[in-house]
Amino acid sequence: MTDAPRIPAVPTPHAHPADLTRATLAVTAGRPPRVQGSPVNPPVVLSSTYVSAGVPALGEKLYTRMDTETWGPFEEAVAALEGASEPGVVFSSGMAAIASVLAMVPDGGKIVVPRHAYQVTLGFVDDMALRHRVTVVRVDVAETEAAVAAMRGADLVWIESPTNPMLEVADLPVLIDAAHRAGALVAVDNTFATPLVQRPLEMGADIVVHSATKYLAGHSDVVLGITVTSSAHLNATILAYRTLHGAIAGPWEVWLALRGLRTLALRVERAQASAAELARRLAAHPGVEQVRHPSLPEDPGHEVASRTMDGYGAIIGLRPRGGAAAADAVVAALALWTPATSLGGVESTLERRRRFATESPTVPEDLLRLSVGIEDVEDLWADLDQALSRG
Ligand SMILES: Cc1ncc(COP(=O)(O)O)c(C=O)c1O
Repeated sequence: MTDAPRIPAVPTPHAHPADLTRATLAVTAGRPPRVQGSPVNPPVVLSSTYVSAGVPALGEKLYTRMDTETWGPFEEAVAALEGASEPGVVFSSGMAAIASVLAMVPDGGKIVVPRHAYQVTLGFVDDMALRHRVTVVRVDVAETEAAVAAMRGADLVWIESPTNPMLEVADLPVLIDAAHRAGALVAVDNTFATPLVQRPLEMGADIVVHSATKYLAGHSDVVLGITVTSSAHLNATILAYRTLHGAIAGPWEVWLALRGLRTLALRVERAQASAAELARRLAAHPGVEQVRHPSLPEDPGHEVASRTMDGYGAIIGLRPRGGAAAADAVVAALALWTPATSLGGVESTLERRRRFATESPTVPEDLLRLSVGIEDVEDLWADLDQALSRG
């Protein structure tokens, strides 16, 4: 089978005026052509194969593992939001998207990763190191000088910012520039911030990845990932990987993600405003040992986030007074907040991350990661307040 070059599944419908805001692009990008009688939303195409006799023409669809119409609009829309010149490449999960980037590191290569990051990303690179495929160096992304020093000889600098679950904020422009001077490729996991709040490609990053499971889709109903780059060469490499490895997304999931993306701006604006308000109140609560949210002036990430981001995101780190048992008791006492892993849905969720043996041992045992949703902030506060006041 030929690895046919890809063309956008739905041709760019109408040129986007250059000055559209991202809030508008989330609504307009990836629409079908604006012509009489065409649907407003892209159709879901359910077909594993395409009519094809002889040698397929360039860009012609052939087989759904290679390309299918329902991917293109979502890939186009996320690329528009991230400011990429190439369409995104959607995968069956965030981890599949991450794997496609990690696969680019040559045998014997070196990867620099945050000491705190999504635990499965760290598990993945550790597994590569165990098999002697690469060496891995962990850095505190908030310690710029030490992170830069660790980049010598690196092939890939992997950045997550704010980090999961510690909410450390990386000085992206400085780290990206240093990584390039060290000759490394830079990939940024932008899942926590979303392109509304942080745009790593504009700061020079080579690749952005998302767990689209989280804010992009936004309703805790699909598992998906996507990569975005402005490099035609890197995009072709990622596309070839997807075709070879086959971690493709189902059409329904991608359609749902595009539907969710339409309200990204509303959801993120509401959730991050509520998160900032809740963080402010939590910081003054007698049942609280420590709160982390970059919006707080006293937060270690506040200065960098204010300089490099367009907001502070909607994830809060919370350490209730009394240690891990007290943290578990807070989770159990909540009635509105849902105890669950994952994040970025319309509903507020939380979890104690160290309940997983695989979470980094430098994450405090009592740290609760809160994902603030779009419910009324007063309802969210009342629930948190009563749960924290029991002890
Ligand atoms: C920051 C971050 N990146 C990547 C992933 C992996 O995404 P997925 O679960 O869609 O494979 C997650 C999942 O929680 C995450 O939090």
